Parts: sequence; C-alpha cells; structure tokens
Amino acid sequence: MATFLCFLCFLLIFTFTPLSHSQPERFTRPLGGARQEYFEVSYPPPSHEPTPSCTHRILHHSFAHTIDSPPYTTPYAPPTRCPAPWSRVVLDFHARCKGEQYDRIAAIWLAGVELLRTSTAEPTAAGIFWNVRKDVTKYSSLFLKPDLDLTMMLENIVNRDFTGIYHVTVTLLFYNQYYVNAPVRVPFVPCPEALNLNPIESKSRSRSLIQEPGFSGVTESPADLIIPISDDGRRGFWFKVEEEKRSCSRKIRIPRNTYRAVLELYVSFHGNDEFWYSNPPNSYITANGLDTERGNGAYREVYVTIDGRIVGSEVPFPVIFSGGINPLFWEPMVAIGAFNLPSYDIDLTPFLGKILDGKDHVFGIGVVKGISYWLVNANLHLWLDHDSTVVHANPVVHYSPETSIERQEEFRGLDGAFDVDAEKETQITGWVITSAGNITTTVSQGFSFKNFIKFQRKGSLKTVKQKFKAKKKVKVIDGRGESITRLKVRRRYPLRVVTNTQQFQDGTYRVVTDVSHSVKEKYVSGCFVKSINNVQNSKGWMEVKGHSVLSGQASTTQNYSYVDRVICYSRNVAAANGIIVTDNSTFVCEL
Ligand SMILES: *[C@@H]1O[C@H](CO)[C@@H](O)[C@H](O)[C@H]1NC(C)=O
Ligand SMILES: *[C@@H]1O[C@H](CO)[C@@H](O)[C@H](O)[C@H]1NC(C)=O
Ligand SMILES: *[C@@H]1O[C@H](CO)[C@@H](O)[C@H](O)[C@H]1NC(C)=O
Repeated sequence: MATFLCFLCFLLIFTFTPLSHSQPERFTRPLGGARQEYFEVSYPPPSHEPTPSCTHRILHHSFAHTIDSPPYTTPYAPPTRCPAPWSRVVLDFHARCKGEQYDRIAAIWLAGVELLRTSTAEPTAAGIFWNVRKDVTKYSSLFLKPDLDLTMMLENIVNRDFTGIYHVTVTLLFYNQYYVNAPVRVPFVPCPEALNLNPIESKSRSRSLIQEPGFSGVTESPADLIIPISDDGRRGFWFKVEEEKRSCSRKIRIPRNTYRAVLELYVSFHGNDEFWYSNPPNSYITANGLDTERGNGAYREVYVTIDGRIVGSEVPFPVIFSGGINPLFWEPMVAIGAFNLPSYDIDLTPFLGKILDGKDHVFGIGVVKGISYWLVNANLHLWLDHDSTVVHANPVVHYSPETSIERQEEFRGLDGAFDVDAEKETQITGWVITSAGNITTTVSQGFSFKNFIKFQRKGSLKTVKQKFKAKKKVKVIDGRGESITRLKVRRRYPLRVVTNTQQFQDGTYRVVTDVSHSVKEKYVSGCFVKSINNVQNSKGWMEVKGHSVLSGQASTTQNYSYVDRVICYSRNVAAANGIIVTDNSTFVCEL
C-alpha cells in the first residue's frame, strides 16, 4: 500500500512539473479558418509596385515529403525579352498550402549564393497563400549569367498527420527603365541634386517618384562578383551548426583586383535554439531536473572568421516563425521578418590586405553559445577594379576587443531571475590603392545587448525582456582625405514575451501570452536616408495538447512606417482571431 501511495505521489509531482520553463514552444494551429491571403507588412506595398519591363518565372515546384532528400534544383538562364542592364530586379515568391502543417524554413540559392531566406505560414483546411517581394538588385551580376543552378530547400514532412504540401512559384521582375549611367569606377552614386527636395514638395511628389532610381534603397551599384561561403549543396547550401565548437568554413580565392568586399550573412535558428532569447542557463535546468534541452542561457552571437581570426559578428534579429509562441498571433499577418528574414552586411574592405595575395583563404561562420541548430551561410560581394589586375591593400588600424559578456543568475527552485548583458565596440581601417587612387575605408561599429528572464509562481509565469541596439559607420576617403562616401546604420530590436502557463490534469494546458516585438532602423548612405519603424503587439490565450493548439483567441496590432527623402508610408493593421479588423495605410508625411 505504501509503495502504491508513493508511486501515486510521484505521478502527481511528475504530471505537475510546470511546462513554462520550455515556453515559448512551437505548435500547429487548429485546422479551421477561411481560405485567405497571409502577408508580412513591408514597404513598398504590392499595390505600389511599378510594372516591370518583363517577368521571368524561374521556379515552380511542390514541396511534399522532402525531408532527407536533396534540395530542388532547376537550371537558370537570364531573361531573353529584357536583357541587362537593369535598374532594378525584384524577386516575387508565391506559395500556397492546404491542410495541416508546421511552419518550415526555406531558402533559395543561385549558384550557391543565397537570394532569400523565408519561412512558411501554417495552413488551414481551406487553404492559404502568400506573396513575398524582395529587392534583389544587388545580385544582378549573377542574373546576367547563363547556365546556373537555382536551388530551393524546404524540408517538409507529409504523412497521415501532416498533409500540407507547399506549392511554390518564384518569378523575377526586371526593370530596364530609369537606367542611370552606371558608375564605372567608384561604386558609389553621388547625390543627385534633384533629390534635394523640401518636405512640402516631397509630399506632393511622393507617388510619382516611386520609380526613381535610388528608390530601392540601393545607392551603390551591385557587386561585380559574388562568391558563396556555403556548404556543398547536397542538403541545401546552408551550413547546419549543431554546437558551439563547430565552426563551418569554406576555402576561397578572391580576384587580386578586388577593391571592396562586403560579406552578407544569412542566419536562422531552430530546434533547441528557435527561442534562444528565452533559454535559461543550464544550471537552472539541471538544479530543477527539467527535461528540456532549451538551455545555454539567452545570448547568441554569429561570427565570421578569415583564416581563423574573427573579422565581424552579429546578434541576430529574433524572428518568430508562424508556429512560434502562439500560432494564432501570426494570422493573417506573420511576425516581423518571418517571410523575409534579414541578412546582415559585414564590410570586410579593411581586411583586403590579408586576402589579395592570390592564395586560398578560409572563411568560417560560427555561433557563440549556439546549440542545435542554426542554418548559416554567407555571400561575399566583391567589387573589382577593371583598370588594373592587382590592387594593393593594407590594414592600418584594427581595434576589435572580445565581446564583453556579463551574466547574473539567482534562483530558488523554479523561480528566479537571469540577466545577460553584452557589448562590443570595434574600429577597423584599411586602405586600397586602386586605379582611381588611394581609397581608405574605416568601419566603426558597436552594439549593446541586454536580456532578462524571470520565472515566478513556481516557474509558471515567465517574462523575457530583451533589448538590442547597434550602430555602424563606414567612412570612405580618397587620397586627399576627401570623403567619397559615408554610411550610417542604427538598429534597435526590443522584444518582450510574457507567458503564463496553467496545466490541467488531463495533460492539456492553457497558455496566456503577451508579445511585443519591434524594429527601428535608420539608414543613411550619402544622400540616401531611410528609416523604418515597425511595431507588433500580440496577446491571447490558447489551449494546447502536445504540440497542437485545440482552441484559443488572439489579437495582433502592427504599426509600420517607412520614411525616406521623398516617400512617407505608414500602415496600421489589426487582426483578431485570424481576421483583419483594421487596415489603414497612407502616403502622407506627418510633419
Ligand atoms: C593610403 O592612405 C592612407 C591614409 O588614408 C595612408 O596611411 C597610406 O599610407 C596610403 N597608402 C599609400 C601606399 O600611400
Ligand atoms: C498602433 O497605433 C494605434 C493608433 O495610434 C495604437 O492604438 C496602437 O496601440 C498601436 N499599436 C502598436 C503595436 O504600437
Ligand atoms: C481605418 O481606421 C479607422 C479607425 O481609425 C476605421 O474606422 C476604418 O475602418 C479603418 N479603415 C479600414 C479600411 O480598415
């Protein structure tokens, strides 16, 4: 009898271990819901896209049970109806899906160079569809080439439980008009006088100016050559990083007449690191005997190395996929970045002196504190000096200390609080002797990161607050010390997630969540100025069994604004239980 009783109490304790330590989680939404269009709020809105000179369908494929298979590959050739030069190229990604399915991660590569990292929305029984548009003008040098392989990876599972097949069509939109004389030597477009408008004029001209060059936000001409820093492609071109120790690398050789290099980093986080910003330290998990593997604390940094030495790093924007936290929040507008994950530019020009020797160099990517798993790869954009075969370069100043990271933890049982503070400031200067003279590039950047996690009420109430601020300046001067270009970028992305979990005897549980997520970004490049302010707030509850949401209620509001020298755009959207209740947008500048 005594043994039986003890077994019972063990069972009780076991069943009531709060789940909140592993919140947030990944779920599938209930099957109900109308056939509708999903979207990610961004600029320009689809209704404001000018008509392209030609459209070129490059991929059309259905992704059913694709897990453990190689990616889908199809040949690419440039459009015959509107040959280069192009003023702008836009990638249009269209997907539709019907049935029950998880969110999936996907990417598209051309000759191993990544064009888009995207994730899918979770479908309904009636079916959903969506479009993603991305300016891909910066990859123009690739779009010119015939006989390339276009590859798309979307690992999906189709079986008795999961029936959703993703049908994908990718089209490139090419624009020939408004082609300005391409700057041949220095890849920076000087400020056109015409853009020097006063705000009153800009207000009335905002719509008509939308097709002007520079509208795309690209003020420099596309690179001459793009080299992928990626895996071999058998399982997609991304490297799968499963632990901190494993840095992934590729040996490459760059042309000796390269005078500018920018590495574009693509990252996404999955499995035990999908919600890395909410992972408690391992000490908390071990002390409480929890069975979650979502640990290692709440700090991650993705870094890039050349020949084993760190040359740049980024704290990634915390993208929430459509099954994340509460899937009812992300319908029909998905979380910020979910359809078009950000990539991160790291200016490597000051390091050219180390890699212009015509020899192979090893480029590596790794994740500080990363656990399984991260999908990372990069595109190395190179600008070549066509009037010389070899340029000379040297670093001058290099100030790049380690990231300073401070951690604090305090807990008793399942309640406690954890802090991580990190910051870094670097400055790197290097010069390049080109056929246009001595060009010196200085890259100064810094960031500060704060993460706070608190567990209360025996771990059932979890609060995550994260702040991230970054600034970057790139200054390029000529041999006389005169400024050729200046780039300034400021970013902030705060995130707050409060989760209250209540567990029931029948194994189901109820989660009440409040999420507030935003991006503020200001970008100044010469005379081109743009700022984006994107805020998304969600709240609601759901009743869950295993990983399936049985029922719930959710509402999300989003305020988006885009402002540059000629355009002001804002859109406020609110959705409740999957239905849009407000959707207002304007092109009026609020002075
Ligand atoms: C190029 O300019 C930098 C300063 O901007 C200078 O330190 C360097 O010596 C110059 N290089 C040559 C070869 O003159
Ligand atoms: C968006 O703006 C509206 C009106 O100004 C405001 O009521 C709402 O709270 C805002 N939503 C967010 C997510 O900031
Ligand atoms: C725009 O917002 C107002 C409230 O500010 C609302 O009454 C109206 O229905 C909205 N328009 C649309 C199209 O949602």
